[in-house]
Amino acid sequence: MTRPTPTDNEREVTPVDIVVSKADEEGNIEYANPIFYKLSGYSKKELTFAPHSILRHPDMPKVVFKYLWDELKKGNEVNAFVKNLTKDGAFYWVYAYVRPAFNADGTLRNYISTRKFMSKNARKTIEPLYKELLALEKSAGVEASEQALFKLLDGKAFNDVMDSIQNN
Ligand SMILES: Cc1cc2nc3c(=O)[nH]c(=O)nc-3n(C[C@H](O)[C@H](O)[C@H](O)COP(=O)(O)O)c2cc1C
Repeated sequence: MTRPTPTDNEREVTPVDIVVSKADEEGNIEYANPIFYKLSGYSKKELTFAPHSILRHPDMPKVVFKYLWDELKKGNEVNAFVKNLTKDGAFYWVYAYVRPAFNADGTLRNYISTRKFMSKNARKTIEPLYKELLALEKSAGVEASEQALFKLLDGKAFNDVMDSIQNN
């Protein structure tokens, strides 16, 4: 499938929307709810077992996904702001809560992402931050952007910092 060309068109995620999907251990889509399809512009057929990276927007810094996967593999949950790319090149921002779900015997069942709208204030903080991280990745690599991100956290937990950015 050819990648859509990003445009400046934005899809609105409203405060009542809950956008859910489930992934296997490689990030392939096992389930998504109707608003996930509606926002992305893809059909259920197009997305079933497609990698979640089909939604990857080029404005997203790599370090966010690196952090997400590092934590998920450790069994931890992650709160993260994500800009997604739709089938027609538009974008939408979400605040995602991603977690692993386990079977009774302790093995991994799947990963679940529950996304909601991003607050206006969060947008003001995250857009310039992601721009800076992306620029660092281009000039100095992902490790440099990872260092910048951890410096910004100043010893606080990533999820707590993201929550305070969303709620302030
Ligand atoms: C449950 C779950 C949901 C995900 N949702 C998204 C998403 O909405 N948008 C996105 O770009 N990546 C999402 N990802 C991360 C992708 O798997 C992938 O790491 C990311 O798109 C970066 O792609 P790349 O690793 O090929 O560069 C999700 C991963 C999981 C486990």
